[in-house]
Amino acid sequence: MNDTLTSDAFYPPTVKPPDQAQSPWRFFSRFVRNPLRAIPLSVYTEPVVSYGKKRPLVTWVTDPELIERILLKDAAQFPKTALDRRVLTPILGDGILTAEGESWRWQRKLASPMFRYAELLSHVPTMVNATEELVADWTSRGAAFSTDIEEAMTDVTFSVIARTILAGIDESEAKAVKRSTRTYLDRISWEVAAAMLRWPEARWHPGKGSMRSAAMEVRGIVQRLLDQRRTAPGGSDLVARMIASRHPDTGQPMTDGETIDNLATFLFAGHETTAKALTWSLYLLARAPDWQDRLRDEVRSAVKVQHVAAGTLERLPLTTRVLKESMRLYPPAPVMTRHSVDEFDLAGTRLPKSSLIVIPIFVLHRHRRLWPDPDRFEPDRFLPENEAKIPRTQFMPFGYGPRVCIGSSFAMIEATAILATLLQSVRFGWDGRHEPEPVSRVTLRPKGGMPLIVKPL
Ligand code: HEM
Repeated sequence: MNDTLTSDAFYPPTVKPPDQAQSPWRFFSRFVRNPLRAIPLSVYTEPVVSYGKKRPLVTWVTDPELIERILLKDAAQFPKTALDRRVLTPILGDGILTAEGESWRWQRKLASPMFRYAELLSHVPTMVNATEELVADWTSRGAAFSTDIEEAMTDVTFSVIARTILAGIDESEAKAVKRSTRTYLDRISWEVAAAMLRWPEARWHPGKGSMRSAAMEVRGIVQRLLDQRRTAPGGSDLVARMIASRHPDTGQPMTDGETIDNLATFLFAGHETTAKALTWSLYLLARAPDWQDRLRDEVRSAVKVQHVAAGTLERLPLTTRVLKESMRLYPPAPVMTRHSVDEFDLAGTRLPKSSLIVIPIFVLHRHRRLWPDPDRFEPDRFLPENEAKIPRTQFMPFGYGPRVCIGSSFAMIEATAILATLLQSVRFGWDGRHEPEPVSRVTLRPKGGMPLIVKPL
């Protein structure tokens, strides 16, 4: 690896794993605060680790070959979990992220044409416009100021989704969706813990009521969007495609319920994760100003006429490398889960039917046996000659196999276009204090937000 490019080794904040056996009480008390804190140190060094005495409560898998088996070769034996469904269904229903079998296949096929590369590139001007509006607001303040970058990035990525694949959400509804999504995710670890302990769904836990109202609010807004689009049909976005679709076997249209499930899924999956990728990338650039300068130089020489355009993106290899290194250290979706349909053997361990398997992407990306100096920020890991040696199931921010993220190209195009547009006109600085702990709440949040100093250039 080329070490000459970064002057000082930089180790950004991470999670300190427990290094000894934990009692169930300690496990769950760490888990509800931050599920990543409950993952023991052995998961960072071993290929497979189980927790639980008689029957494993959870089995963490971080071996790339075993992950390939679970997500691709034997994928039918390892479907999505009841846990995932229980935790996400109240807000996302039976949409593409949570559905299985025939229902999933139909929904995936229906949405796929929206995610063809050429189609996605046509959204670049919209992505750039949304970012330039934010930059104009920042620049109008004149001097440097501190702001919460996590919130700003959520606003931009939400605007992009609401102007591209899900047209028709107005500003006050957008605010309500963002607020409710946040409330829902804030409380989610309790629900995950309750599901792991197999508590009945109706049983109370802290935050249960506010999760329910937040889910109802989001779904109510999506219902209004659908009603409004049914009365004024047209357009070619995802909403129009869903309304016009007919099931290949029955010839029936999607029910309102199915359409709402999908629209809510895309609204959620389509902005939260990309916002987190940008938030962590800007943090890293604020902490590694030499990299920030190099990226800005790259952007300035790649942009031909003032604005970042579709053609600019392929001239930004450094920016892409930083984004990938950022998603390695801070994967926006830090954990994936599956369960076993039957008994099975994993690296010599016999596991019972219905075992909960967790692929902790966060830990996989920092595994001591897979990565040299894993906690160090080093974008040159992703130089083409180095990246070629990394197995696809060792670096997998977008998952892998048939359920791989449908929006991965959307996200990469969007994150690159937004980052490049921001760097053209703004410098990002660190306040010298805030070292945010990465917290898993379905997406990877910075604890305490992400205050950065914004200096218009
Ligand atoms: C940096 C941004 C993103 C990351 C890191 C990310 C990550 C992921 C991951 C890890 C999965 C697989 C989950 C599993 O198999 O259990 C997934 C699935 C999915 N993602 Fe993304 N995602 C991102 C952006 C997006 C965007 C922009 C969209 C839509 C516009 C999107 C829509 C979806 C959908 C619909 C699925 C479910 C696919 C299926 O099950 O067939 N994602 N994403």
